[in-house]
Amino acid sequence: MPPVARKRLLSGMQPTQPQLHLGNLEGALRNWVRLQDDYDMYCCIVDWHALTTMIERTDEIYENSIGIATDYLAAGLDPERSVIFIQSQVKEHAELYLLFSMVTPLGWLERVPTYKEKRDSLEGKAEASHGLLGYPVLQAADILLYKPYGVPVGKDQIPHLELTREIARRFNHLYGETFPMIENVLSDVPILLGIDGRKMSKSYDNAIYIADSADETAKKIQGAFTDPQKIRKDDPGHPEGCAVFHLHVVYNRENKDTVEAECRAGARGCVQCKKECIEAVNAALAPIRERRKEWEANREGVLRILEQGADRARAVASETMKEVRAAMKLP
Ligand code: TRP
Ligand code: SF4
Repeated sequence: MPPVARKRLLSGMQPTQPQLHLGNLEGALRNWVRLQDDYDMYCCIVDWHALTTMIERTDEIYENSIGIATDYLAAGLDPERSVIFIQSQVKEHAELYLLFSMVTPLGWLERVPTYKEKRDSLEGKAEASHGLLGYPVLQAADILLYKPYGVPVGKDQIPHLELTREIARRFNHLYGETFPMIENVLSDVPILLGIDGRKMSKSYDNAIYIADSADETAKKIQGAFTDPQKIRKDDPGHPEGCAVFHLHVVYNRENKDTVEAECRAGARGCVQCKKECIEAVNAALAPIRERRKEWEANREGVLRILEQGADRARAVASETMKEVRAAMKLP
């Protein structure tokens, strides 16, 4: 029996850091690994998007991309099934971006919340660029080039997907039915706090990385933020604001109710609690870290996968571009 055609999904991450942290792993990557059993996954490393915030550090972007590909593979994305590729290696993204930029009214872009946030947080006195405003247009091109069924992303990306549908609708209206209306593929992902109790993020310097050693992980968790009102073991604690408890919820699921109850009752000390947390996190990450080491030692292999990924992506993207040019009568 021929295999049933599987629906396609596309997602992407920006290579703004050399490695992915547990927030990226639990918030997105693990979900992609699960989804590849049922969907054709296109996993893009969107290096041109990283230019919007790294214009003075462009020399870091390519190495970051390779680090992120290494983490994708370590987490279990299977390069036989899933297409892993770097955006800038498929030039069709740039062409569709340009064409979409002509059908996208400025007002749509100025309303996007991430634009306002990024504009206001630019380093130094940098002025917002054309590219920053156009960020979601490039994202729409990333997505629609592959005519996917949907896009697995976090809630923060919903405005970008809404804009993608608006661009598709406008294009279809002007030039005839070309692009599908994509679905938001949202998943119930846990929020991981960084070791200081804020959202886990490279820029807060509070992240635990996939590539960290077990020892580095232990040191970070030993120094993690806990309930400041809980000083002695028998003080009743408030686990909800405790970074260690959040790690227990994700990595020590079977015992999280016990941890919570004992913390509240003053029947558990933070030192012991952290010790258990360290064991659970390191045990859960061990196979991923093992695989990461193997891929790290096989840079050629990673580069080959990215090259093959770009070829497979380009095969789809160039077909879409033929249709787009034909629809616009731009042969
Ligand atoms: N904007 C996304 C983010 O910051 C990254 C991204 C770029 C993306 N192109 C995409 C995500 C296409 C999904 C699909 O996370
Ligand atoms: Fe956090 Fe555990 Fe201490 Fe409670 S006992 S405050 S959950 S580290």
